[in-house]
Amino acid sequence: MSKKTILTGIRPTGNLHVGHLFGAVGNWVKLQDEYETFIEIADVQALTDNFQDPDKVRRNVKEMTLDLLAAGIDPAKAHIFIQSAVPEIAELTVFYSNLVTMARLYRNPTVKTEIAQKKSVFGNQGESVTYGFVGYPISQAADITALEGELVPVGEDQLPLIEQCREIVRKFNHIYGPTLKEPEPLLSETPRIKGLDGQEKMGKSLGNALYLNDTPEVVAEKIKKVITDPSKIKKDDPANPDICMVYYYHKLMQTDHLATVREECEQGKRGCVACKKELIETINQYLEPFRKRRAYYEQHEEEVEKILIEGTKAARKRAQEVLKQVKKSMKIDYFD
Ligand code: TRP
Repeated sequence: MSKKTILTGIRPTGNLHVGHLFGAVGNWVKLQDEYETFIEIADVQALTDNFQDPDKVRRNVKEMTLDLLAAGIDPAKAHIFIQSAVPEIAELTVFYSNLVTMARLYRNPTVKTEIAQKKSVFGNQGESVTYGFVGYPISQAADITALEGELVPVGEDQLPLIEQCREIVRKFNHIYGPTLKEPEPLLSETPRIKGLDGQEKMGKSLGNALYLNDTPEVVAEKIKKVITDPSKIKKDDPANPDICMVYYYHKLMQTDHLATVREECEQGKRGCVACKKELIETINQYLEPFRKRRAYYEQHEEEVEKILIEGTKAARKRAQEVLKQVKKSMKIDYFD
């Protein structure tokens, strides 16, 4: 039996951070062994709310490619492709838009949350949400179906988008005859990683992330600022590791003498400065293989370009076949 197809995507709007490694992207690295894997760099989707800043998106397509390779996505196993370079996706988006009502789009919980966030950040400008932005779930349904994605590995926040895609597929098949594959979400069980400031989520927009491409010096700077138990004033005060972000990251990094760290902290035998120093070393060791791979690809630009060209070719081949079937079903296959 042939392998099932996985399709997933990521917006190129910033670098990958440790949260991605422990979460979605780390999961893709594991899944690529088992499934036919397509990873889309969703530049068209990134432009829906960054259309005024094409330089940012362009720059981050390259950054994201390097980061994905650094994270361990293996071009021999997975196809990395650029969304805008597969124009069939845009065509499908237009056809699918007839199948989705405005009311349904506004009710999509992911879109709703994002619009609310925009309002809170931009005030009244949030009112000027564009057609392209509200419609991005349709474009995402085109991403998934164009690649015949059977499984879509996503976090919980993306579930409403997969559900909307499934509705589009069912409606399409009902009206035009069985044509499209209905995808299923593949929820990752990876925990959400807390940010350096102790917030529940590590994120670029929250300004609390440790990045894959942070230098050892930057890692040291960031860890030195991490909040420990505020009741601990002097080096020898006993403290509570369970409310200390340094301990949290020791745990995350599976520091081998974790029990000792806890004990010494609780008994006031461990100063925060020394504890942070250890953590900095552990994190830098953890990041080292990622940095090495990134450095390799940074020095081999032509290889990176070839990976994108090949990945996009493979994606396009599938998308062309799907589009052909779609046009046939819709009776608009004039010149095929
Ligand atoms: N919307 C996803 C995100 O913001 C990115 C994405 C684009 C995606 N196309 C996709 C995810 C297709 C899964 C499938 O993270």
